[in-house]
Amino acid sequence: MIGRLNHVAIAVPNLEAASAQYRDALLAKVSDPVDEPDHGVTVVFVELDNTKIELLQPMGEDSPIAKFLEKHPQGGIHHVCYEVDDIQAASRHLQAQGARILGDGEPRIGAHKKPVLFLHPKDFNGTLVELEQA
Ligand code: CO
Repeated sequence: MIGRLNHVAIAVPNLEAASAQYRDALLAKVSDPVDEPDHGVTVVFVELDNTKIELLQPMGEDSPIAKFLEKHPQGGIHHVCYEVDDIQAASRHLQAQGARILGDGEPRIGAHKKPVLFLHPKDFNGTLVELEQA
């Protein structure tokens, strides 16, 4: 079912410093910051040959990233995103396997304008997993 690793999302306390580090120390191709108010984040995309890294900084009052950074003030890996062909089928299969889907269980439109869902980290080795219909 799962396909490519679409991205690894890293929450950072200082987006400017983090993107400068990826650009200047790792010599990576980094985007300008993109505000995503619907998701409560500002994102910098780091393009790698085989996947992407998304540097996330909280945007707005009740950003889901803010709580994470309270627990991990230096930043940390927030989630990994795997691609699937059919998100509805993936959702049904995972729920039949006992995995919990965050929110109301229905896929929603994610940061890349594609349907996504998130699996409960307690069911996946302490890792928040995003599935995206590629
Ligand atoms: Co993501």
